[in-house]
Amino acid sequence: MVRDALSRPLRDLRISVIDRCNFRCSYCMPREVFGKDYPYLERDEILSFEEIDHLVTSLLPLGIEKIRLTGGEPLVRRDFVKLVEMLSRHDVELALTTNGVLLQQFARPLADAGLNRVTVSLDALDDETFQKMTDSDIKVSQILAGIDAAIENGLGPVKINTVIRRGVNEHSILEIIEHFRGTGVIVRFIEFMDVGSSNSWRMDEVVTAEETRSIINEKYDLSEIPPVDASHVAKVWQTSNGDKIGFITSISQPFCGSCTRGRISSEGKFYNCLFADSGFDLKPHLRARVSEEEIQEMVTGVWEMRADRYSEMRGEQTNASRIRLPIEMSHIGG
Ligand code: GTP
Ligand code: 5AD
Ligand code: SF4
Ligand code: SF4
Repeated sequence: MVRDALSRPLRDLRISVIDRCNFRCSYCMPREVFGKDYPYLERDEILSFEEIDHLVTSLLPLGIEKIRLTGGEPLVRRDFVKLVEMLSRHDVELALTTNGVLLQQFARPLADAGLNRVTVSLDALDDETFQKMTDSDIKVSQILAGIDAAIENGLGPVKINTVIRRGVNEHSILEIIEHFRGTGVIVRFIEFMDVGSSNSWRMDEVVTAEETRSIINEKYDLSEIPPVDASHVAKVWQTSNGDKIGFITSISQPFCGSCTRGRISSEGKFYNCLFADSGFDLKPHLRARVSEEEIQEMVTGVWEMRADRYSEMRGEQTNASRIRLPIEMSHIGG
């Protein structure tokens, strides 16, 4: 098992399969920046399925236990199900993060291809807020149908990622919890993060987990469940009827100390952190078909140097040290 400079192992691999998305969430891909002229990657610039599979085969022996496929929106990648079929042959948990637009159509083929579970992003249950936040004309009912299809096809436990922005969707907190009561779906509230460089992040728009919990407490008693695994990003609480609710506190209570996540962007760069501004380019090596051992050695070298703990350092940063151009979340995955 490989360990980084802070002694953290590499256990989760998050692979972005495409930098495009059918939504334009303002906190991730604001349309002003991600318009028609945005320099999205060309097809031959992104890793092929064979290259991704070669990479996964090479890295599994380092101690990887979980692979999460992300985007952009992974389901807009052509023939995505084929990739799942290839990767599910490995002995590793395979999860998907999706916005759910195409999930009703793909839940069954994905389950048949060997996907283990899905996490669906959903920030509101009323069409008005949802369409405003995603800058789309998709209806919430389409996402809910996708979630139902995921449950029916055994892609559970299904998790929901909800980003709360002050003044925009606080009313969704109780609505979403009520909607999923007793269904086994785990709702997780994510603090709005300063990821990338184009989402005009402001601290006063962050609704902290503590605030979210106090809203939930108006209707439900919550008790904290001790963590199953310190490397999980969500802190899990439970209502008195047993519904689990997660809180992802990247702003108010960073969790870098136990961060075991390595990331591969769709163009094949390995990133040590969600907030990194540069990555190690594996693509030329994958295209030159170097051996699994060589890929493994390269990533081991990169991981051993890793001292990233951006979220913990955020508070300590001066304006001068913030002059950097971190990678966008749509390139590196959520
Ligand atoms: P499980 O396997 O279901 O536990 O998934 P997960 O919680 O590892 O993954 P998921 O993609 O659902 O993570 C939820 C959200 O947490 C992401 O979309 C990000 O917004 C945020 N997140 C995940 N990993 C990190 C991380 O390493 N750092 C920070 N700051 N945020 C993260
Ligand atoms: N802050 C918090 N969460 C974000 N996501 C995307 N951008 C941000 C941000 N700036 C979330 C999405 C999705 C997951 C992949 O990441 O809502 O659920
Ligand atoms: Fe697309 Fe997800 Fe980003 Fe929204 S948060 S724009 S759904 S990748
Ligand atoms: Fe890991 Fe970087 Fe997120 Fe900290 S900020 S938890 S090091 S990805």
